[in-house]
Amino acid sequence: MVKTYEGDVTAVRGISLHINDGEFLVLVGPSGCGKSTTLRMVAGLEDITGGTISIGGRVVNHVAPKDRDIAMVFQNYALYPHMTVYKNMAFGLKLRKFPKVEIDKRVRDAAKILGITELLERRPKALSGGQRQRVALGRAIVRDPSVFLFDEPLSNLDAKLRVETRAELKRLHKRLSTTTIYVTHDQEEAMTLGDRVVVMSGGHIQQCDTPLGVYRQPVNRFVAAFLGTPPMNFIDGRIVAEDGRAVFQSDAGRVVLDGHHGEVAQQHVGQEVVLGIRPEGLELHPTAEANREDMAIDGELDVVEPLGNMMDMFVSVAGGGRLVARVKAEVIEEGTAVKLFLDPDKLHLFETGEYGKNLTLRDAV
Ligand SMILES: Nc1ncnc2c1ncn2[C@@H]1O[C@H](COP(=O)(O)OP(=O)(O)OP(=O)(O)O)[C@@H](O)[C@H]1O
Ligand SMILES: [Mg+2]
Repeated sequence: MVKTYEGDVTAVRGISLHINDGEFLVLVGPSGCGKSTTLRMVAGLEDITGGTISIGGRVVNHVAPKDRDIAMVFQNYALYPHMTVYKNMAFGLKLRKFPKVEIDKRVRDAAKILGITELLERRPKALSGGQRQRVALGRAIVRDPSVFLFDEPLSNLDAKLRVETRAELKRLHKRLSTTTIYVTHDQEEAMTLGDRVVVMSGGHIQQCDTPLGVYRQPVNRFVAAFLGTPPMNFIDGRIVAEDGRAVFQSDAGRVVLDGHHGEVAQQHVGQEVVLGIRPEGLELHPTAEANREDMAIDGELDVVEPLGNMMDMFVSVAGGGRLVARVKAEVIEEGTAVKLFLDPDKLHLFETGEYGKNLTLRDAV
């Protein structure tokens, strides 16, 4: 589907997605990439400029929002301030002329699931942010829709509450198995909640895969850079051939490429490429996976950030670059010269540019 707003802003440039029954699908991407527009088109709150949307096999392009059997929860959920929690949750059902007994059953069931039974007679202003958020969820749950649409529902909550509510959402989905499309710009939320994660940018889908799939096999540099904290390290360089071997050469150092990477690199000799490796793909001491002197980069330890059993090391390398390594915690002084061993299994080569293609993707096994 495509969406062009008045004034020729094309917010969504041809998205094609099939969401499985009962699936929890997360749309993630930077601000302005078209996530909300996509969701609002599914909800029927925006006309679509081109394409079709079907829900459960029925094309709903011209079906009114209220008849699409979906329930949406926004970032700025507006609860009715003069109504109790109970009435807030019952309101939508009342409008749809549900019998009183049925309304009561659904509201109490949802309240129980969400742990807000004791709050039913309160008004919204007497609730915490997290409790209000649960009421907003409750309003969606009582509708028992075939699809839930969430647009950054947790972004108004503080960090701790966000993590708790996130876990609650996951439990909720396990229990109800309602097909869900969830929008966030928080990559951690995307990774922890999604059965599949759709990474968007500039109105396009960059990649759609399982959380591990997008993390371990990013199709391009954008996806690689967007997911993961600290982010993947990138080193600009070029591929040269030496004695029949392919070598990645950069200001930061040389990396001899063997195996799968070697084969790929052989096809790009003489080309500029970007080497990508996540912080956990760099080791301070040789390990079973990362132990080759010809796959190591020298540097000087700038800063250590302890994380309990692990630590992040920020290491300056030749040429002015800086790498981040996440390694087992140990005592090491800042300013020390270090050697970072690269784990070949965690190494990627990208074409240059923000959206440079991942040249080292392996075929799905
Ligand atoms: N009503 C509108 N009229 C014109 N342009 C719009 C309208 N709504 C959104 N846009 C534009 O469409 C693009 C996508 O917007 P959208 O709200 O879908 O982004 P988003 O991914 O949800 O971003 P955020 O993370 O900031 O919520 C943006 O460039 C935005 O400025
Ligand atoms: Mg949005």
